[in-house]
Amino acid sequence: MGINILAMGSYVPEQKLLNDDFKKFIDTNDEWIRTRTGITERPMAGWEPAWYMGAEAAKKAIERAGIDPADIGLIIAATITSDFLTPSMACVIQREIGAVNAAAFDVNAACTGFIYALDTARRFMQTDDSMKYVLVVAAEALSRFLDFSDRTTSILFGDGAAAAIVEPSDKLYASHLASDGTGAHFLCARSLNVAPEVKTETEFDDGFPKKPLHKLAQDGKEVYKFATKALPRSFDIISEKTGITKDEIDWFIPHQANIRIIETAAKHFGVSMDKFIITLDHYGNTSSGSIPLALNEAIEKGIVKRGQKLALIGFGAGLTYGGIVLEY
Ligand code: UT7
Repeated sequence: MGINILAMGSYVPEQKLLNDDFKKFIDTNDEWIRTRTGITERPMAGWEPAWYMGAEAAKKAIERAGIDPADIGLIIAATITSDFLTPSMACVIQREIGAVNAAAFDVNAACTGFIYALDTARRFMQTDDSMKYVLVVAAEALSRFLDFSDRTTSILFGDGAAAAIVEPSDKLYASHLASDGTGAHFLCARSLNVAPEVKTETEFDDGFPKKPLHKLAQDGKEVYKFATKALPRSFDIISEKTGITKDEIDWFIPHQANIRIIETAAKHFGVSMDKFIITLDHYGNTSSGSIPLALNEAIEKGIVKRGQKLALIGFGAGLTYGGIVLEY
């Protein structure tokens, strides 16, 4: 059983940070950021909570799908920047959109979050005939977790949300989800819920970087190394399992972290960069939002068309990675 993406929607904050704006806080410049990452600007949430962005994206997707929110059987929200420890972001979005008959929960798989959530949606639909529609939404306000004095991380991320209404179908679908927890400490943000020993950093060394609570820390080089292997790996595994080849894929929609990582994947596959949807130049890395924002934009622009085969491939903190091949 596959899925049909009935409709999508997005919400992107109006406020944005240009590369040059970072010069106010750190020693950097537009040329370094553009050549090392491919990013030129990124949206930054102002007053908007992450759930608000997710709910707005969901409302747009529901309107475009032309469905009654009461027919949504499940809401899965992918996020690592939820406004609440509890309730889940999915429940808050449910309140906003009036999906009164839905079950709701969040998925935390970092930048691979949308892929994990979409694949979970498909598995739910596969085992429950009564599930007519699932809302999969990815929403992130990364800017609230950034240390703006750290030039190696703060320049990378942006805020935004995208949502998809999916239904069961017999279209092509194959997936692979994976994780390598041995690299958990390479990309992380501590919650506020830590033992005092961790706060004072005196007696307890858990191997994770010492960064202020709630601020994103990463070993950029380790994540980069992992990413260049993980990004193509999921597609290769799907390809081996199903026989679907790279030449059959109309569009690769990768996690939008760094253009050089995507170029390495393109080289690995031996396919032109023209087959990759790129939005990181104007969105930056929006974590779980990155793949659905890219897909939504490509649909809105008429680049991705019905009947085309898509490969969604991602990686992120965890270190998670995964891919989905589907027909749009
Ligand atoms: O969703 C996953 C999220 N994480 C990632 O995707 C991270 C993956 N990693 C990367 O994208 C890259 O490793 C970075 C973009 C983070 C860094 O790029 P790099 O080419 O690996 O640079 P580097 O760390 O080797 O640094 C090269 C130089 C260093 O200076 P020195 O030591 O050679 O004098 C850095 O201090 O560039 C310096 N540098 C900067 N200079 C200007 C690092 N950040 C900046 C900056 N502006 N923002």
